[in-house]
Amino acid sequence: MLLNARALVLLHILVWSLLPGTFSLRSGTLSDISCLKSITDSLEDPLNNIKSSWTFNKLKEGSFCRYVGVTCWNSFRVRDLDLANKGLRGEFPRGLVNCSELLTLDLSGNVISGSIPQGINYILPSIKMLNLSNNHLSGEIPLSFASCSSLESLRLDNNRLKGGIPKQLSQLSLLRIFNVSNNLLSGPVPDFFSRDTISSESYVNNSGLCGGPLDCCKNDGCTFEGSFKIGFKIGFIIFCSFINPYILLCNWVSSYMKNETMPTKTTVLEECRKNKGKQVDQITPLPNKGLHQEEIIPVFFLALLNI
Ligand SMILES: *[C@@H]1O[C@H](CO)[C@@H](O)[C@H](O)[C@H]1NC(C)=O
Ligand SMILES: *[C@@H]1O[C@H](CO)[C@@H](O)[C@H](O)[C@H]1NC(C)=O
Ligand SMILES: *[C@@H]1O[C@H](CO)[C@@H](O)[C@H](O)[C@H]1NC(C)=O
Ligand SMILES: *[C@@H]1O[C@H](CO)[C@@H](O)[C@H](O)[C@H]1NC(C)=O
Repeated sequence: MLLNARALVLLHILVWSLLPGTFSLRSGTLSDISCLKSITDSLEDPLNNIKSSWTFNKLKEGSFCRYVGVTCWNSFRVRDLDLANKGLRGEFPRGLVNCSELLTLDLSGNVISGSIPQGINYILPSIKMLNLSNNHLSGEIPLSFASCSSLESLRLDNNRLKGGIPKQLSQLSLLRIFNVSNNLLSGPVPDFFSRDTISSESYVNNSGLCGGPLDCCKNDGCTFEGSFKIGFKIGFIIFCSFINPYILLCNWVSSYMKNETMPTKTTVLEECRKNKGKQVDQITPLPNKGLHQEEIIPVFFLALLNI
């Protein structure tokens, strides 16, 4: 009797351990399944692009890693979701919070509408690349993006986002790609770390963005700064011209003729210093023939604009 009971227990363990199914799935896997299911629940898929692949039948550890658009870590957790251009419609899927090891998400070229969730940092805490371009997103860019500190690339171009870009986004020190072109955004742009890669190209066709690589913002004290700079330039040129107007103009003109570029502030300063106190006839003649009187004034103004 005792022996039989023991054999039964052993048989029981053996059967359960061989039985495929959700009983043996790890909690991370269950979490990912809940995430992927929530995507199919919350987004319409009229072209049947993902539903035919995402079957959720006979799920084993890592079986969803072969689904269309899904890439996994070695641990069989979802790492990347590439659902670009799949004709998906609906609001941003909040169930993504359960894909808790998600690194990259590409939902570009779909019909995602509504606004980006305020708690995007809670939904995608370790996201590195997020592409939501070419959708129908409206509302404002959430401030909480500033807490997605792993972000290297954020594309929100070609949507209907309005309002300002939170200046706190400048805290994203890893951000190299940022694109919000073709939206309805206005106000100052953040002062990003990577000024070399995030250029005015990232901001084209909005309602009124300013600052950074764009024109300066009118209500930002930058008009004063701008007019100060212009005033300084004019003062500087008048000052230099006063010291030795003929030489200065000739040097500008000659260097303009030679290099087809305007002299820099440094060269002008140098010329000023070198020729200070000299008489006009003591100066070495310039290599080029010089300009006619009537050409000097336009070139002078060109120089004024270029320094
Ligand atoms: C995340 O998954 C848990 C169960 O694993 C579920 O209760 C919860 O509703 C899911 N969250 C979302 C936002 O779908
Ligand atoms: C989305 O953006 C990422 C990087 O910003 C890029 O690598 C990817 O190709 C984009 N997706 C599409 C469909 O263009
Ligand atoms: C400018 O952006 C809007 C969306 O805000 C878009 O509808 C329009 O086609 C864009 N214009 C150009 C020239 O790209
Ligand atoms: C941003 O996206 C637009 C198209 O939406 C593209 O023309 C522009 O080159 C992109 N800018 C950068 C910096 O990638």
